[in-house]
Amino acid sequence: MKIYRAKDYKDMSRKAANILSAQVILKENSVLGLATGSSPIGVYQQLIEWYRKGDIDFSHVTTINLDEYCGLPPSSKQSYRYFMNVNLFDHINIEPENTHVPNGVSPDAKQECSRYENLIRRVGGIDMQLLGLGHNGHIGFNEPGSAFEAETHCVDLSESTIEANKQYFGSAEEMPRQAYTVGIKTIMQARRIVVVVSGESKAGIVRDALFGPITPQVPASVLQLHNNVTLVGDEAALSLL
Ligand code: F6R
Repeated sequence: MKIYRAKDYKDMSRKAANILSAQVILKENSVLGLATGSSPIGVYQQLIEWYRKGDIDFSHVTTINLDEYCGLPPSSKQSYRYFMNVNLFDHINIEPENTHVPNGVSPDAKQECSRYENLIRRVGGIDMQLLGLGHNGHIGFNEPGSAFEAETHCVDLSESTIEANKQYFGSAEEMPRQAYTVGIKTIMQARRIVVVVSGESKAGIVRDALFGPITPQVPASVLQLHNNVTLVGDEAALSLL
């Protein structure tokens, strides 16, 4: 695992955006696995800036998002589809039909999971997966205890995740209790993985995930078994390493 130390959030975002843009420049039809949440927003802002300068072309890129809340339509401001449109897709020249997020309002959860998994296969798998890291070690919405063999599935969100994300919903009661997530097995099949972490509150879980035992109780610890992971963290998130 390569670890890049960044000064702060902006520096982390720039370093991670450099890695993603190099991927797209070297392979114009790259399949990028993308995440939502606060960690990658700066990466997306940086990519938009470079796109506007004419330095990156997304017209042949395909994106596969990690997750989506069950029950939220794309028009919902809390949906991850909405997040991605607002924070990235609406500002770059990606073809909307090449951007994929699980369908939160699919009437058949099982069918939606196999559709998504087949889609990832059909596009040739993920070239580069961008990940954030949950305070409880989750990646995507693969919560502690998730099987390492899991493909895309529907999960019950943990209390710690509800606590961390309720800020986007007004209150915990309004937050969906379930979400679709790409599974750990699928994440591990990505050819390269880039993890972005920022802030002191992530320092403990960064240490446990990278240097602790590999266990489903800390889902991100599985990344120790992947042969091409780059972690980009700011000083605060890396302070316990
Ligand atoms: C989001 C996702 C989650 C987040 C994680 C960290 O698509 O899959 O695993 O990456 O919850 O969230 P932030 O970046 O908000 O701390």
